[in-house]
Amino acid sequence: MKNIVILISGRGSNMEALIAARDAGNLPVNIAAVISNRPDAAGLETAMKSGIVAHFVDHKGFAGREAFDAALAECIDQFSPDLVVLAGFMRILSEGFVRHYEGRLLNIHPSLLPSFPGLHTHQRALDEGVRIHGCTVHFVTPALDHGPVIIQAAVPVLDSDDETSLAARVLRQEHRIYPQAVRWFAEDKLRLEDGRVRLAAELADSAALISPEVR
Ligand code: GRF
Repeated sequence: MKNIVILISGRGSNMEALIAARDAGNLPVNIAAVISNRPDAAGLETAMKSGIVAHFVDHKGFAGREAFDAALAECIDQFSPDLVVLAGFMRILSEGFVRHYEGRLLNIHPSLLPSFPGLHTHQRALDEGVRIHGCTVHFVTPALDHGPVIIQAAVPVLDSDDETSLAARVLRQEHRIYPQAVRWFAEDKLRLEDGRVRLAAELADSAALISPEVR
């Protein structure tokens, strides 16, 4: 079974979705550790309650990005991860860190990339007046919120939406697609090859999810 390490910064609902999928027998991985860059991340307690090793490496204790990333990588690597899963990890990662985990570093982003990289994606989608919004799981490259797309889920943007309602609709889909992507990796149905996502042939039409609300 593959080892995964999950990185969080806050509430950790995507981490919880991964734990729930594992507990339901839908995600054949060993969650070796959850690591936060913030000592007060609520998700650390959730992880511990599930019996998962939880650590923090406080970014405030380091002079610069490279020093923090080196300490973080050292903490991660003691668990020998096959895959590192960024789940609401709110730090820009240095190129050295990203290269070290090339092909085994995933991120989830609350937009249909390449639209709306960065922060405040839901408000920006509302401000632009887009009719479809969503979320993306991708392999991480040194560019922020960029990289080969593994799976996306689309949701409608309703005239009645505000940032909160739209974020909640997207988050429901995040909790579907992240366990799915990690499962594909765990089952050797997903890999990065020459900078492109390779999915097992039978998954060809499973990587674009349209939420029932759109249909
Ligand atoms: C999610 O919307 C994720 O896509 C983004 O940050 C949020 C984290 O939420 N990167 P949670 O900590 O997983 O609840």
